[in-house]
Amino acid sequence: MSKTIIVCGASQGIGAEIVHELARDSSNVIYALSRNKERMDEQFKGYSNVHPVSFDLSKKVKEQVANLFDGLESIDLLINNAGYLVKEDFSNTSEEQYHRSLQVNYLGPVILIQSLLNSLLRGHAHVVNISTMGAVQGSVKFPGLTAYASSKAALCTFTEVFAEEFKAETIRMNCLCLGAVNTEMLQQAFPGYEASTSPKEMASFVVNFALKAGLLMNGKIVSVSSSTP
Ligand SMILES: NC(=O)c1ccc[n+]([C@@H]2O[C@H](COP(=O)([O-])OP(=O)(O)OC[C@H]3O[C@@H](n4cnc5c(N)ncnc54)[C@H](OP(=O)(O)O)[C@@H]3O)[C@@H](O)[C@H]2O)c1
Repeated sequence: MSKTIIVCGASQGIGAEIVHELARDSSNVIYALSRNKERMDEQFKGYSNVHPVSFDLSKKVKEQVANLFDGLESIDLLINNAGYLVKEDFSNTSEEQYHRSLQVNYLGPVILIQSLLNSLLRGHAHVVNISTMGAVQGSVKFPGLTAYASSKAALCTFTEVFAEEFKAETIRMNCLCLGAVNTEMLQQAFPGYEASTSPKEMASFVVNFALKAGLLMNGKIVSVSSSTP
């Protein structure tokens, strides 16, 4: 059956691979959201079922949704994959960097969900939030990631509380805490480090989870890593 899907953070890395994987099923209709629309237009030009949309989680999310998705009846799947990573000593992390981390990694996705809520409820949607192993309590931590990891941890807790509040509805929400994946973000944070997982492999896991786990799981924070971290 045809599914209406939104992937936020779709221009590169894991998000782009998620869109490729979902697009292979021509019955899926996919809205790919990111700031870099040109990059999405180029890499998704072979799919008639992918609609790249210029979208910025650090700007007025509610207004962007109202302008872009006004007529959208229902949504089956929303994957909040976008992320902003700043690696900086605590003393040198600016207030602006803390604000931006919270905005892109937490507030933006939360307001996106709130703005799309009626369509998500009508679609009995599964919402999958993408967080990091660094946000999991007791996991190995790395210096310089206070802004990134704590803002992603907020997304984890939001997932649990949202699921409780909406447990009587048919909407489902889960959060995946990913381990290291070879992407531009990883190279920026840990130059030269080679992760054993490719974006394509991680995307395949995320898509499988997104399509199936909503049947049996709700409000769960799942670590996706074969090692620690
Ligand atoms: N790679 C890893 O090792 C790893 C580990 C744990 C968790 N994760 C998480 O996995 C997700 C994907 O990571 P990745 O490694 O694929 O990162 P990436 O290559 O840096 O891609 C991040 C994506 O987020 C989008 N994005 C960033 N800021 C945005 C904004 N303001 N509005 C809308 N979209 C925005 C980017 O698109 P534009 O620049 O075009 O906007 C891009 O498509 C992230 O949430 C990340 O935190 C990654």
